Amino acid sequence: MALAAAPYLTRGVELTDLLGALVDAVVRQLDADKGTLYLVDGGAGMIISVVTDVPGGIRLAIGQGLAGAVALSGELVNVADARNDARFNPTMDHKTGYLTRSVLALPIKDSAGEVLGVLQVLNARKGAFSAADEVNARGLAKQAGSVLERTSLYAELKKKSPLSADRPHLAYRFNQIVGESEAMRSAYSVVEKAGRTDATVLITGESGTGKELFARAIHHNSTRRSGPFVKVDCTTLPEALIENELFGHEKGAFTGADKTTPGKFEAAATGTLFIDEIGELPLKLQGKLLRVLQDREFERVGGTKTLQADVRVVCATHRDLSAMVDDGTFREDLYYRIKVVPLHTPPLRERGTPDLLRLVEHFVSTFGRRHKRPQVSISDGAMVRLKAHSFPGNIRELEHVIESAVVMCDGDVIEARDLAIAERRRTGSSGSMSAVTGMPLHGGADASVVGNPNLTLQQVEQEHIRLVLEAVGGNQSEAARRLGIGRNTLARKLSGESD
Ligand SMILES: Nc1ncnc2c1ncn2[C@@H]1O[C@H](COP(=O)(O)OP(=O)(O)OP(=O)(O)O)[C@@H](O)[C@H]1O
Ligand SMILES: [Mg+2]
Repeated sequence: MALAAAPYLTRGVELTDLLGALVDAVVRQLDADKGTLYLVDGGAGMIISVVTDVPGGIRLAIGQGLAGAVALSGELVNVADARNDARFNPTMDHKTGYLTRSVLALPIKDSAGEVLGVLQVLNARKGAFSAADEVNARGLAKQAGSVLERTSLYAELKKKSPLSADRPHLAYRFNQIVGESEAMRSAYSVVEKAGRTDATVLITGESGTGKELFARAIHHNSTRRSGPFVKVDCTTLPEALIENELFGHEKGAFTGADKTTPGKFEAAATGTLFIDEIGELPLKLQGKLLRVLQDREFERVGGTKTLQADVRVVCATHRDLSAMVDDGTFREDLYYRIKVVPLHTPPLRERGTPDLLRLVEHFVSTFGRRHKRPQVSISDGAMVRLKAHSFPGNIRELEHVIESAVVMCDGDVIEARDLAIAERRRTGSSGSMSAVTGMPLHGGADASVVGNPNLTLQQVEQEHIRLVLEAVGGNQSEAARRLGIGRNTLARKLSGESD
């Protein structure tokens, strides 16, 4: 079961997936029909399901029903027929049409013995749960406790702040970002620093590298986390509408404006405004945005009243804004204003094999659960194939490849042939960005890096290393040999450290 991977779980794997995997394991080991995992919301006096097959989830008062009784007493409950137990609450059965018979419910505690949640399994196939089942379940509940204790959610549970059914997912959003490589760690530290202030953040990175995921992480790790997170995508709207979208309009501002409508700057008040693909923002609006960022003031379209902007702005782009400044298509003053905190999301091929493995494991488990094939695993041959691929579409591409493999593989093991990976290209770059440097390759994606006067020596070196690595299918020892350097030197160069 996935718990063997515990050391990196604190930030690694989405908590709901992990808890889901844990419930699956208990159900399997106890040969039960199904299971539920609740977390205690002490502030509200409730337990709330985080893993369940009941649509909309389950909320019970502490003390209500068998699971609620466990949350209250902190003691295990094992009943052979719930209908004969006065604590049993049949409401859920009436709602779902399910017939509960045997129930084993036990507390999940932290190391201090405080109840964090309740693990419950229903309907043992052999009729009732045995004493051996109890021992087994206690072992797994203990693991769940120690996993919970190492997450950011734990602090929240301890605070006993009101925790709504959907908020837990937001509260540990940081945990959805998988990756422990050097490149990712430095990105996390930027998120942490950014969270302390309202400074504007500029996220740059190739397509599919997690820019939006990081924008959300910044919000959820900031003092504005209880405010809204609002997104505006500059690519999906025509110029006239972007202004409207951002700033809203007054009644009568234009034909059809029959009522005053607030824009995203107002909607995001007290929270975070995420402006995606800022490189597409028309010049005229760049000026208006600059003013909001400088003076924290704006007017609605057609309005005269000056409004205050109480937002933190996070921008993202896959384009090279400094080149756009040179071209005159992006305002230099705005560029400096938005990149107060720069955050670069590294492309997958710079993140090293351990991160690739973690992501693969994460997606196999996520999609295994989503598509009701939790038993699916991945073969060594398929991993070799994944390692050799350069992933121009980055994590989004990996995500799609794994999802389709989980659904399409014949048996329970994903083989190399199940991976819908396009044939390797000579360069892994998608578009005009260099695969390694995140800088534009002015000669186009297929241009040779050697002899390109726009690149620094280090960029050329990085590109060349990548090409060699690709040519040898990702084998670093072989690549080092071909490059005429030691394996450690190669590792250092790949991690971006200077000599
Ligand atoms: N480190 C990560 N761990 C887990 N999932 C990730 C990670 N990074 C990205 N993803 C997933 O990959 C997909 C793409 O991420 P996201 O939309 O944040 O990328 P993006 O950089 O905004 O891409 P684009 O430039 O194409 O808009 C999402 O489904 C996201 O959940
Ligand atoms: Mg995006």
